Formats: sequence, C-alpha cells, structure tokens
Amino acid sequence: MITYKKPAEIALMRESGRVLARTMRLTAESIVPGKTTLLDLNDLADKLIREKGGIPSFLGYKPGKFVYPASICTSLNEEVVHGIPDDRTLQSGDIISLDFGVILNGWHSDSAWTFAVGDISDEARRLMSVTKESLMQGIARAKVGNTVGDIASTIQAYVEKNGYGIVRELVGHGIGRSLHEDPQVPNFGRAGKGPVLKEGMTFCIEPMVNMGSPKVFTKDDDWTVVAADGKLSAHFEHTVAVTRDGPMILTTEED
Ligand code: MF3
Ligand code: CO
Repeated sequence: MITYKKPAEIALMRESGRVLARTMRLTAESIVPGKTTLLDLNDLADKLIREKGGIPSFLGYKPGKFVYPASICTSLNEEVVHGIPDDRTLQSGDIISLDFGVILNGWHSDSAWTFAVGDISDEARRLMSVTKESLMQGIARAKVGNTVGDIASTIQAYVEKNGYGIVRELVGHGIGRSLHEDPQVPNFGRAGKGPVLKEGMTFCIEPMVNMGSPKVFTKDDDWTVVAADGKLSAHFEHTVAVTRDGPMILTTEED
C-alpha cells in the first residue's frame, strides 16, 4: 500500500533529511587517507545523527532473518551496498559508498553517496559521476502523472549508454513512517509501466552502478553485496517527494 504524505508531513521528512545530509557531509570531510577506518566513520555518523536528536535507522534493522549490526553502511570499492563497517583503513585511490538512514520525530530519510579517497583513477571518477547523474535524471522524472517505470527506464538508459552495469537485485523504495514502504522503485524497466506518481508520494531512488558486469553476490556475512567480477561499484541515493511543483529532494542541507 502506498501512503501519501501531507505537506506538513513532507516538511518533517525534510528535517530528517537535513540531519542526514549534514551527517553525510561532516562524515565524508573527516576522511584522512591512510588513517580513517570504516568503524571511525560509523561512530562519527552515529554521534552526529544523535546530537541532532535523530536515530540511525539501520542499526538493528531486520528485514528478514538477519539483523543489521551497525549504524551505517560502508561499501568499499567492489562492494555495492550494505557493507558492514570494520577496522579496514581507507587508502588513497579507494572509493567509499556511505549509506545512512535517519529517523527524526518518527520520520525516516535515507541517502547514499560515493566519495573519492585521496587521488582516484579517471575511470573511478567517471563511474561516480555517471552514477550520480543517473540519479539526478531519475529524480527529474519524479513528477505527478509520470510512472515509476519512467524513473527506472531513464536511469537504466543513462547508465547503459555510458557502458556500465545497472544492478537489478536491489531497488529503491517508498519511505515515510517506515524505512521501506511501497512502491518499489527499480533502476531498470520500461517507460510508462508501474504505479502512477501522485502528489504526496515519498520514495528513495538509489541507482547502484557497476563498472563491469551488473552481476552481484552476497558475502558470507549475509549483508555485503559485491560486484561478482570484482570491479568498482558506486551508489547514490536521495529521498524525494512528489509535489505539485515537481520533485523535491529531501536529503540535502540547503533548499
Ligand atoms: N539504503 C538501503 C536500503 O534502502 C539501506 C539498507 S538498510 C540496512 O535498503 F539496514 F540493511 F543497512
Ligand atoms: Co534506501
């Protein structure tokens, strides 16, 4: 069931998204190549979320059999999503995807961003910019009267035109009082298909893009999804509201 949010509810989700975006910026700024570990990022993000009155929604999250054991996801290089923070140190040349969920006053926000650590290859930089641009093009289609398939097909076409693999096993999702609500928002599909977008819908759009094959598998830790061919992967995600005036991105610091 899709729940439609009133403008006052979207405003509350916006505040949750603001806390998240601030946390994302400050956490990324803290990275010192050769020094910062993934656990350092987890602990800093947890502290920054809580100091603004929020709760990190991923900690203890249990979509099925397994409980997520950390406050954020940190997916390094060939890791696609749901990487569990550990004591590995970030090195110059790495790319690191940070994925955060915040609950503020009962309202969820969810956003991910891939960052360069020190100097990265031109190839890695291009992967990141294509992934981010695919998200922005998908967001631009989040208008009343379009469909979920319009968003999905736009993302897929842009990624594939650039020679990369769009991951299919994981999808975006509605969000609000819960982290995961209807509808699913895939990153591949056909224009005109799927639910029609209406005013008050709020969902996460989150393309995961592999430099090589789109195939992925889950590691023995039951969470970390990695590119099957071991090549780099990037992930960008925003929480978006469909409004009468067009798409509104909720997970930014400034309006
Ligand atoms: N952004 C991811 C998603 O929407 C977050 C995963 S939740 C976790 O599915 F708790 F499993 F990490
Ligand atoms: Co999400």
